[in-house]
Amino acid sequence: MHSHLLPGLDDGVQTLEDSIDLITQFSKLGYQKLITTPHIMSDFYRNDKDSITNGLLEVKDAIKKKDLNIELEAAAEYYLDEVLMSKVQNGESLLTLRDKLLLFETNFLTEPFQLKEFIFNATTKGYKLVLAHPERYQYLIGDINKAEDLRNRGVLFQINIPSIVGAYSRPIQKFAQQLISKGWVDFLGSDCHNQMQMDILKDATKDKYFVKATNLALMNQSLIAL
Ligand SMILES: [Fe+2]
Repeated sequence: MHSHLLPGLDDGVQTLEDSIDLITQFSKLGYQKLITTPHIMSDFYRNDKDSITNGLLEVKDAIKKKDLNIELEAAAEYYLDEVLMSKVQNGESLLTLRDKLLLFETNFLTEPFQLKEFIFNATTKGYKLVLAHPERYQYLIGDINKAEDLRNRGVLFQINIPSIVGAYSRPIQKFAQQLISKGWVDFLGSDCHNQMQMDILKDATKDKYFVKATNLALMNQSLIAL
């Protein structure tokens, strides 16, 4: 429910060939369905419903031709910026994982000044927010109280599988492990952009904390039968 597999739309996969190659590997790992989530970020990745739908149709067509047994859908990973704030405020329709389940990310270093306002506004509009990779934000790492505050505000947490095995950094890994130990994980996602991350994903299945995370009451399964 978090990956970058539509060719040329963001910093993820760049060619249709690579897209199909990675999707084939997901299928072999046992994944039944992928909801891929191109970045929508007003400064860098100006994707919208049209660009994402077109990319999805292209890849779905190739999946069909290859006879791959995997379902593909698309949503988006929204970056919290002024554009997203106003889209929510104006009631514009957004690309969600399922009805009203919205995946978003923030600045990696400092807490965005409008974070709490965004959570309030989006929740008021009926969205259920899913924070992408909370373990990767500098302003959250090690601050378990701040993480708890976000959860108390109704924000769901999606942990990146590569974080669990230390693919980004040791502090990120430790914080991911801490969130898993607390049971504060609602979704596991690959955040897969490329082959290197796919290789990490394959190795992660043996990891103790990965296994622990998969035994939590995750909501990934709720996205299968839609
Ligand atoms: Fe991502």
